Amino acid sequence: KSDSALSVLTVSPSWLSPGASVTLKCHVKPPSAGWRFYWYKAVPQLSDEPYRYELLPDSSEGTEQEVFTIHGQKNTTGYMCRAGRGDPQFYSKYSLPKFTWYMDSSVSLRVSPNRSQHFTYESISLSCETNSAEWRVRQFYEDFYLFCDDYRWKAQTSPCIISRTVYNGAVFWCESGSGEFSNAVNISTHDDIILESPVHPVTEGQPLTLSCRLWTDGILSDVSFYKNGKLVQTGTSEQLNISAVSKSDEGFYQCERKEVLTRRVQVWMSPESWVSVKCKFNLTFFPVFLQFSKVKSEIKQQTS
Ligand SMILES: *[C@@H]1O[C@H](CO)[C@@H](O)[C@H](O)[C@H]1NC(C)=O
Ligand SMILES: *[C@@H]1O[C@H](CO)[C@@H](O)[C@H](O)[C@H]1NC(C)=O
Ligand SMILES: *[C@@H]1O[C@H](CO)[C@@H](O)[C@H](O)[C@H]1NC(C)=O
Repeated sequence: KSDSALSVLTVSPSWLSPGASVTLKCHVKPPSAGWRFYWYKAVPQLSDEPYRYELLPDSSEGTEQEVFTIHGQKNTTGYMCRAGRGDPQFYSKYSLPKFTWYMDSSVSLRVSPNRSQHFTYESISLSCETNSAEWRVRQFYEDFYLFCDDYRWKAQTSPCIISRTVYNGAVFWCESGSGEFSNAVNISTHDDIILESPVHPVTEGQPLTLSCRLWTDGILSDVSFYKNGKLVQTGTSEQLNISAVSKSDEGFYQCERKEVLTRRVQVWMSPESWVSVKCKFNLTFFPVFLQFSKVKSEIKQQTS
C-alpha cells in the first residue's frame, strides 16, 4: 500500500574517490514521526521502467535513521529510498534515483574527441565499451537527469552523438542492458579556447600531456599552463609534459594564450578541468587487513 507522501533523496559526495563512503539522506514530505527508511540501488533494465529497484543488503527491515552510509563503494551507482510505517505498512512514493559517480570502471564510456573540454560547434561522440549487447548513455546537467536519444537502447556500433550544445559542466556515463554502470566523465563545451586534457584518470607512472587549442588556429604554441590557479609553466612551448604522473599531479588545470597586438595584449584563458590520477595497484588488501584485526581483537577478548 502506498501513501501520498513523497521521498526526496540526497546523495553525497557526487564524485566518489577510492575508499570514500557514500551518505544517503531520505527526506519525507510532509515530515512526521514513525517512519522507517528503505534504501535501494537502481539496476538498469530493458523495459519501460528504466531501472529495477534492488533493496540494499542492510536495509531489509528498514532503518530508523533517515541517513544511510555505504562503505567501500567503487562504482557509479544510482540510489533510491522510500519510507514506510504502520502495520500493515504504508509506503511513501519511491524517490527519484540519485547518482554518485566514479571515474573508473571495467565498463568504459569512450568520448571522441578524446578530451574533457570541447568546442560548442563540434559534435561529441559517446560510446560504451561493454560486453552487453545493449547500452544507453545517461547524462546529468543542471540538476536534470537525461538520456541521450530518449533512452533508446543502442547496439554495439552506433554511438550517441551530441552536437552544438552548451554544457558548462555535464556528467555522462553509460548503462548496460545487463545492469552495469560505466565510469562517469565530466564534459564541458566552450566557444574559443580549450585545454586538451584526458577524460579518464591517468594511471600513476604514465605520461601526461596537456595542450591548448584555439578554435581558429588548432593547437597553440607559446601557451602557459596553470594548476589550481597557480602558474606552472610559462608560455614558450605548446605542451605541458609530465613523464610519469604521481598523485600530487592531480588537480585543476587550465591554459592561457597571450598575444601582443599593436595597442594591447589579447589574453585567452581556457576553463579549468580536473585531471585525475589513479593508483597503479588496487587496494584490495585493506578488507583482509580489517578482518585480521577483528580476529585479533576477538582473540584478545577471549583470553582476557
Ligand atoms: C562494479 O561493477 C562491476 C560490474 O557490475 C562488478 O563486477 C564489480 O564487482 C563492482 N565493483 C564494486 C567495487 O562494486
Ligand atoms: C584517450 O586518452 C587516454 C589518455 O589520455 C588513453 O589512455 C586512451 O587510450 C585514449 N583513447 C582513445 C580511444 O584514443
Ligand atoms: C567535475 O566537474 C565538477 C564541476 O566543475 C567538479 O567539481 C568535479 O570535481 C569534477 N570531477 C571530475 C572527476 O572531473
